[in-house]
Amino acid sequence: MKVLILNGPNLNLVGKREPEIYGDVTIDSYIDEFLRPLSKQLRTQSGDIVEVSVFQSNSEGEIVTRIQDACYGSAKQRVDAIILNAGAYSHYSLAIVDAIRAITVPVYEVHLSNIYAREEVRRHSVISAVCAGVIAGFGMEGYSMALLAAVRRGEMYNTQNERRND
Ligand code: DQA
Repeated sequence: MKVLILNGPNLNLVGKREPEIYGDVTIDSYIDEFLRPLSKQLRTQSGDIVEVSVFQSNSEGEIVTRIQDACYGSAKQRVDAIILNAGAYSHYSLAIVDAIRAITVPVYEVHLSNIYAREEVRRHSVISAVCAGVIAGFGMEGYSMALLAAVRRGEMYNTQNERRND
């Protein structure tokens, strides 16, 4: 099973950026030190290994293209689940909403901070309604929680998609 961690604008600066909100650890170091070792221990219900890839972009168009390719791209680009922290785009990008609606790959939305406890403008995510679930406020652990959910629920989605394609 392939899982893509897709991070949006300014998430490359986590570790340096507003550490009181986002912590002082970089996402790359969390992935290398915790999430990849965790993924190696996981198996899907049919016994498949879990492969994690990571993509970060500050540009909305690149995020849209990566979401499209996750479903319709080359064999190398296609994945079984996306864990998406779209950063500030979460709050207003209809292009990302449309891209998620256009694919059959489940998307798990993650936010490091508890967006519901922040400024009014951050309390609503336009992408939540088209995602399989939302995890917010648990810092980096949110990525691991989403990975567990994606792996445990993956086959449920595959079955649903097969039914939809019948
Ligand atoms: C964020 C929350 C967003 O409001 C913000 O723009 C980010 C990070 C989070 O992970 O908490 O860039 O998505």
